[in-house]
Amino acid sequence: MKIVVTGALGHIGSCLIREIPSFFPEAEIVMIDNLATQRYCSLFNLPLKGKYRFIEADVLATDLNAIIDGADVVLHLAAITDAASSFKNKEQVENINYNATAKVAEACSKIKCPMIHLSSTSVYGTQRDIVDEDCSPAELQPQSPYAKTKLKEERFLQALGDSGKLPFAICRFGTICGISPGMRFHTAVNKFCWQAVMGQPLTVWRTALHQKRPYLALNDAVRAIKFIIENNLFDQRIYNILTENLTVKSIVEFIEKHIPRLEIQYVDSEIMNQLSYEVSNLRFKKQGFEFTGSVGKNIAETIELLKTPGGNHVK
Ligand SMILES: NC(=O)c1ccc[n+]([C@@H]2O[C@H](COP(=O)([O-])OP(=O)(O)OC[C@H]3O[C@@H](n4cnc5c(N)ncnc54)[C@H](O)[C@@H]3O)[C@@H](O)[C@H]2O)c1
Repeated sequence: MKIVVTGALGHIGSCLIREIPSFFPEAEIVMIDNLATQRYCSLFNLPLKGKYRFIEADVLATDLNAIIDGADVVLHLAAITDAASSFKNKEQVENINYNATAKVAEACSKIKCPMIHLSSTSVYGTQRDIVDEDCSPAELQPQSPYAKTKLKEERFLQALGDSGKLPFAICRFGTICGISPGMRFHTAVNKFCWQAVMGQPLTVWRTALHQKRPYLALNDAVRAIKFIIENNLFDQRIYNILTENLTVKSIVEFIEKHIPRLEIQYVDSEIMNQLSYEVSNLRFKKQGFEFTGSVGKNIAETIELLKTPGGNHVK
């Protein structure tokens, strides 16, 4: 079995590549990453039982056909991922993320290789209580250039799928929490953990404290990818993948269990002003998947990882 992972050194990829040898012991794991985010550390101490090959390359500038040749599945994780910053580098995010996805999808379609594409629950934006994959187009209101591009990428894959050329699954992941060698701290939960441990005020978007959003424990994320491969779930559908919907307030309360007396500083953000949304994961559960992760547990582990002997977590 040959598994190709683009963006393999990132937050999700660096966990996934360590789990694949346990999930699929025979797998050859081909990892592509352009090291744009300098996550060399993601390659440290890979499990000895894994059959790894790393290719330092930009998806957009390399011969993907040769790399994907003979692959059983391609996991496309490569992207510029900081949604909040994507307002500043809108064109770069749009061009690089969209074109990289299109290039990977086209290479897969040439040999009908199944592809898992990681999209995001940030494509939603609705006033309804709970939203699912069958929502109306009006409820798909991505609030950032990053999220808008995700939606455009999904449509590209669906068009290829409609023409019968590409077996794929699109995973709309909730915001990831949980530790990995290549973890990043742009996203809400990790950023709050970092700020709390460093004695900084937690910067919460003014409108966000009581708004619910979807979160995904990293172990559920990698198990979901395994589940799709094992069950050959390349049915050209979209699946919402999230462990739970939570308010920022409840995330703050999880953190307060470990670091009391948190200070909150409200900031304005262009993202998701006014919007609160809960996302349903029922479609994926109905396929037989069980979400077993815990955002609270992952917060505890992240804080534990960041504490230093000097105790800079104590105010
Ligand atoms: N982390 C989350 O909360 C979250 C939530 C929803 C969806 N996703 C999606 O999951 C995927 C992986 O996310 P992540 O958190 O691991 O991201 P990440 O930013 O940690 O990792 C992305 C990796 O891709 C690499 N990369 C970027 N552009 C590349 C290119 N053109 N060619 C080769 N490599 C390239 C980067 O160097 C990096 O190592 C992304 O598509 C992201 O949008 C992530």
